[in-house]
Amino acid sequence: MPNIIDVTNLTKRFGDFTAVDSISFSVERGEIFAFLGPNGAGKSTTIKMLITLLKPTGGHASVDGIDVGTHPGDVRNVIGYVPQSISVDGTLTAYENLMLMARLYEVPRSERKQRVQEVLDFLNLQEHAKSLVRTFSGGMIRKMEIGQAMLHRPRVLFLDEPTTGLDPVARQNVWQHLLELRKSFGVSIFFSTHYMEEAESAADRVAIMNQGKLAVIGTAGELKVKTGKPGASLEDAFIYFTGNQLETAGNFREIRRARRTEGRLG
Ligand SMILES: Nc1ncnc2c1ncn2[C@@H]1O[C@H](COP(=O)(O)OP(=O)(O)OP(=O)(O)O)[C@@H](O)[C@H]1O
Ligand SMILES: [Mg+2]
Repeated sequence: MPNIIDVTNLTKRFGDFTAVDSISFSVERGEIFAFLGPNGAGKSTTIKMLITLLKPTGGHASVDGIDVGTHPGDVRNVIGYVPQSISVDGTLTAYENLMLMARLYEVPRSERKQRVQEVLDFLNLQEHAKSLVRTFSGGMIRKMEIGQAMLHRPRVLFLDEPTTGLDPVARQNVWQHLLELRKSFGVSIFFSTHYMEEAESAADRVAIMNQGKLAVIGTAGELKVKTGKPGASLEDAFIYFTGNQLETAGNFREIRRARRTEGRLG
């Protein structure tokens, strides 16, 4: 069995600007893999190439052994994607949103209702099935988006900052479900985050991107050791490998995002 993700010299240029600069790495089957890096490091751009939304300028990537450049349609069948921005329709109920996505993902008509029910059960959203999604909390919306992405039973889930802007309880709840997803279905999980503690607690391995390059990859423990500082935290490793202070302005960014979320669903 091939790795769930194989990336070789993957590159994305926008005009003269190189957003992703010849990165190479692999993710093993069943692994939970965290993608860290400052704003603009190239995390979302990498994810978009892996899920076939952006065409690489150079290099290769395969998901579940399928080349993203030559067989994008086949790749889409085996992946689920939770984007950085909102991907639910606030004017529809939870049930309606999921049914819509089941159609989009080409779940056979005869199986749709049962799949949607399964997802609602799995996420503990049964009681809210008939509520408009615009009445949901940020955590419930995120769960809905994860639900949408798993309707067609993908082998790997890509989540771009799945917990940004969520309160600690909602974040924990989202992670509880993601871990359960791997345990029950063996789904591999590739996610980006700005939360160090989340990468440390959930991920088997961590990659840190900086200015389009892969600065380092390994377990959180290995990254800490590589800083050469006894007692280093993952945050210390992040700063060491990116030369970046973790933004104290991060709160502003989250608030702005949370507001945008409300506005879009309002
Ligand atoms: N379509 C585009 N056209 C031009 N430049 C782009 C485009 N998409 C992304 N970029 C640039 O590529 C760089 C990497 O962006 P990307 O969204 O991948 O970063 P990121 O690591 O996901 O950052 P964040 O943590 O803020 O989400 C940024 O400088 C961004 O401005
Ligand atoms: Mg991003």
